[in-house]
Amino acid sequence: MKTQVAVIGAGPAGLLLAHLLRAEGVEVIVVERSSADHVLGRIRAGVLERTTTDLMDRLGLGARMHAEGLPHDGFHLADGERLIRIDIAKLTGQQVMVYGQTELTRDLMAAAPERGVEIIYEAADVALHDVEGDAPYVTFVQDGQERRIDARFIGGCDGFHGPSRRAIPETVARHFERVYPFGWLGILADVPPCNHELIYANHARGFALASMRSPTRSRYYVQVPLDERVEDWPDERLWDELAIRLGPEAAAHMVRGPAIEKSIAPLRSYVFEPMRHGSLLLAGDSAHIVPPTGAKGLNLAASDVAYLSDALIRFFMAGDGDGVAGYSDKALARVWKAERFSWQLTRLMHRFPENDAFDRRMQLADLDYIASSVAAQTTIAENYVGLPL
Ligand code: APR
Ligand code: PHB
Repeated sequence: MKTQVAVIGAGPAGLLLAHLLRAEGVEVIVVERSSADHVLGRIRAGVLERTTTDLMDRLGLGARMHAEGLPHDGFHLADGERLIRIDIAKLTGQQVMVYGQTELTRDLMAAAPERGVEIIYEAADVALHDVEGDAPYVTFVQDGQERRIDARFIGGCDGFHGPSRRAIPETVARHFERVYPFGWLGILADVPPCNHELIYANHARGFALASMRSPTRSRYYVQVPLDERVEDWPDERLWDELAIRLGPEAAAHMVRGPAIEKSIAPLRSYVFEPMRHGSLLLAGDSAHIVPPTGAKGLNLAASDVAYLSDALIRFFMAGDGDGVAGYSDKALARVWKAERFSWQLTRLMHRFPENDAFDRRMQLADLDYIASSVAAQTTIAENYVGLPL
């Protein structure tokens, strides 16, 4: 097979990239290791920045998101007792959209056939070749047969564990990483949310988050030690812990119900540089990971792809390679600011094993300052809604 851009990975990054390129007439083929159902089975965060919803609108694929998504004007930070509201609409003039990543992925997948976006699912042994030159190619095995796609560029959108980043030689690679000494235990349940907005809570017992997917489906998380197992957390124990950590006001409105899904995810900050090597361009989790505090993961993937699609369209339509050459620097500037925000919010809201009473007082003083300062709230709000592209 031959195409202009071979995209590896059909997560949000790969699907958005493929659609944006296709919409401007660029040829693209997406190669995905899993089945469509498997990709849609992953439960992930669900807060979209304006830059992300704008991309869906630009593609003309935002109808279901606007019909079923929940626009939010604010969210809360809690310190165990009170709720501090961050009024993002008043402070920034913007909203965020609560719409599950799974749903956004479903919309992009569903529209692929009619938009001429070819996706090859269940491709095994995907490998990248000759990425340093201008005729790279991808090989994989489909139904037991070896196949090959020749392309001008490869979009490496295959997440943190995919082969794309590893195709960049260690001699040019730089890795930056923080691994946090705890995870998030998440529960999804068909019960109404305890608050119409999100609550991020810092309790002496650890972090908790009250989120949602719809008016009848809630998503909650508690911080847990890394060696904890899901089996250690029967539903009742988890609801009890959430009620304590989220504070009295949220607890009073919390409706309990059986878990539809329950899992533990580790937290990590990670950046890989550079995001381009020759004809290979990385986007999304293949190049960087943020801890989920602040829900920047999907939004960063979307902003990478906004830059990358512009660069590639310029290359194919105008023969101008400057965008491609500048892609890594441009994307990384925004990536690092989102890394900074997620890291700061993680440090502010979690209990770290090494923290002593002084650190705890510092967190509480920080939260008290935020409660009383419009300047501090504005800083948080403008990062939460997403920095401009
Ligand atoms: N070959 C082909 N596809 C692969 C391979 C491989 N060897 N390895 C991984 N993939 C696919 C995965 O199956 C997945 O569907 O690449 C896709 C990567 O998708 P995501 O992990 O969702 O990453 P990305 O699209 O960058 O999205 C970033 O989504 O993953 C969340 O938390 C993340 O919210 C963030 C956002
Ligand atoms: C979620 O709803 O899953 C969610 C929301 C906000 C976050 C992280 C996760 O910061």
